[in-house]
Amino acid sequence: MAELKVLTARFGTPNSTHIDTYLRDGGYKALEKALKMTQDDVINEVKKSALRGRGGAGFSAGVKWSFVPRQLNKPKYLVCNADESEPGTCKDRPLMELDPHQLIEGMAIGSYALGANLSFIYIRGEYWYLIDILEKAIQQAKDRGYLGKNILGSGFDHNIIVHPGAGAYICGEETALLNSLEGKRGHPRIKPPFPAVVGLYGCPTVVNNVETLAAVPHIINKGADWYRELGTEKSGGSKMFSLSGHVNKPGNYEVRMGYPLMDLINIEGAGMRGGKKLKAVIVGGSSVPIINAEAAAKCNLDYESCQSVGTMLGSGGVIVMDETVDIFETTFNLIRFYNHESCGWCTPCREGTDWLLKIFKKIKAGMGEESDLDLILKLCVNIEGRSHCPLGEAAVWPITSALKHFSDDFKKHLRKSLPVLTMAK
Ligand SMILES: Cc1cc2nc3c(=O)[nH]c(=O)nc-3n(C[C@H](O)[C@H](O)[C@H](O)COP(=O)(O)O)c2cc1C
Ligand code: SF4
Repeated sequence: MAELKVLTARFGTPNSTHIDTYLRDGGYKALEKALKMTQDDVINEVKKSALRGRGGAGFSAGVKWSFVPRQLNKPKYLVCNADESEPGTCKDRPLMELDPHQLIEGMAIGSYALGANLSFIYIRGEYWYLIDILEKAIQQAKDRGYLGKNILGSGFDHNIIVHPGAGAYICGEETALLNSLEGKRGHPRIKPPFPAVVGLYGCPTVVNNVETLAAVPHIINKGADWYRELGTEKSGGSKMFSLSGHVNKPGNYEVRMGYPLMDLINIEGAGMRGGKKLKAVIVGGSSVPIINAEAAAKCNLDYESCQSVGTMLGSGGVIVMDETVDIFETTFNLIRFYNHESCGWCTPCREGTDWLLKIFKKIKAGMGEESDLDLILKLCVNIEGRSHCPLGEAAVWPITSALKHFSDDFKKHLRKSLPVLTMAK
């Protein structure tokens, strides 16, 4: 087993959500240590660790923190993105459910580094049962002096508010999230300015994924070098992967960055269900290009390797499909999702996903023609790079990659040409 236990080390510990067991296991030691460091030293340590955002884009966490103008005479905010709505991804859920103090400690350290006295956990509405767990843990941290005024006598004040979303996928996009948090409609904002400079209520704000923040206490405790060396040079540390689909043992697994995808399938996932052949994999949650078995065999679970085989690590939702899967049906399902979740703000995505869905429906009804496949690709070209936020690209990448690798699955749904009638003499 190559499974690693860093973020998941306390999963399975009885009463793991209670502050007493967290403290017993060494919890809040990293916060104590960070509060004795300068803010710049904390940021530099995170930068050095090669921790990259686990929400999908993979941007360096330390570099993002360094963009915040701390000298600006305005409040600063840290927002934890717990919207987790990417199809195939469910790794933030156990991090909050089984070890909420790990996240709270990471947020406290991040907030200290940014000079933020207030931070938020924006959590998907469907995770209502986790709100209670988080709020109890926040109260325990307040009671023990890890949140509130003058934390551990350092002079630093910090509180956390948990805010539920209302079921819109787009509210996971960081600027739509900020609008939603402000009580506005969840439309993405125009960037620049970036949230690090103009974010929540017009103030400098960092938005980080749950898993990104949960890694921070370990980096401070054990050092940037230790963390980076768990993974690869450019993709430091460990990462959780939500393995689903046609494997014998689906589940959330934490492995080192750079771990071979096929090992995740064959070792952690205990191989293909029913001994069937692997056909395709979506590596990073539904918003990334689909790869075939040949590419999967060369793919390691880090940002660079995924890119080299034509896909992305994304949020780590690994969906495994065996030889029985019709990839046309897979992409049909996905375009239904993206069309439904398009916020409608910009034309290429709003209209484009609608037209794509219409063509998929036509093909599904047996009325599609070869030219419809060209039309699909043309529509994709007009959405990709022309829409306002990455949801546009997320909608087309699974389709263009599916047409590249699995065009036969589309062609078999096309209308069979009608028999030519000849007149009887
Ligand atoms: C449509 C869309 C949905 C997203 N959903 C999420 C989400 O549910 N959780 C998340 O952390 N990031 C999500 N992101 C990425 C965020 O915009 C942002 O990059 C991330 O929260 C930054 O945190 P990180 O740097 O720690 O990854 C989404 C992006 C897009 C375009
Ligand atoms: S790309 Fe789609 S989701 Fe993003 S702003 Fe435009 S319409 Fe909204």
